[in-house]
Amino acid sequence: MPTHDFERAGTPGRTPASQAAAAAGRLAGVSFDVSADAYGRFMGQYSEPLAVQFADLAGVRSGQRVLDVGCGPGALTAELVRRTGAGAVSAVDPSASFAAAVRERLPGVDVRRSSVEQLPFPEGVFSAALAQLVVHFMADPVLGLREMGRVTRPGGVVSACVWDHAGGRGPLTAFWRAVQDLDAAADDESDLAGVREGHLAQLFAQAGLGEPEVATLTARVRYASFEHWWEPFTLGVGPAGSYVASLTADRRAALRERCWQLLGAGPIDISAIAWAATIRA
Ligand SMILES: C[S@@+](CC[C@H](N)C(=O)[O-])C[C@H]1O[C@@H](n2cnc3c(N)ncnc32)[C@H](O)[C@@H]1O
Repeated sequence: MPTHDFERAGTPGRTPASQAAAAAGRLAGVSFDVSADAYGRFMGQYSEPLAVQFADLAGVRSGQRVLDVGCGPGALTAELVRRTGAGAVSAVDPSASFAAAVRERLPGVDVRRSSVEQLPFPEGVFSAALAQLVVHFMADPVLGLREMGRVTRPGGVVSACVWDHAGGRGPLTAFWRAVQDLDAAADDESDLAGVREGHLAQLFAQAGLGEPEVATLTARVRYASFEHWWEPFTLGVGPAGSYVASLTADRRAALRERCWQLLGAGPIDISAIAWAATIRA
């Protein structure tokens, strides 16, 4: 039983354990076995620019050996390769399609199909272990962060960033607002691990990593039209894509209409803010 909690302030009647179970149960249907192209059109637009800031924050530079945890199709991996060279980068992800995409995109990177909770590396081999937009999808975030610490050398860096979903400043805020306007009982992503203020730092401390430095990172994306914004939600990626895929055609049309009412015809500018926590061991 993990010792951490996913409790959201002001969620009466839900214990940390029941909330964690609810979040884990909901994510059981969420798939990242989607194509790299679908992911790129949905979240890659944000994670590519975010990766540059995140690598800056972690101080990644030439001469280091670095690990990208939950690499997806390789937004951060590519930035790490740019800074250190492919031979100095390892990347892990449980998704077969994403691992294959990174192997193809970035030859020379050591890509493994693995979960963070059981990293296939000995202790202390990396100068930096980074997880971009992954903590909230980990089966056990405390264990995952602890593993990142285990494989990082003394004096190295462990860093993670996660969208501020709970603060309504993530890239999917307008979408989840429209969902809840039509279906008040629907779960958004605001109760997941790390997505509310202070929670990433709490998880780092629970993982035995100490008190991290906390910062925010911002990714800005412009969509030429409402259609450019909506279409990626229909590709089945992550909790939002799974939600859309679960709807009947009528309910999907109603959700699209509600989003249109909130956002208009476009262009649509989204500023997405991520919490980042970094520990220099
Ligand atoms: C939102 S994506 C982020 C991908 C990439 N880091 C980026 O910034 O674009 C979340 C990723 O976490 C991976 N993931 C989910 N559970 C994981 C776990 N337990 N350990 C490692 N990765 C996991 C998913 O397969 C997916 O690739």
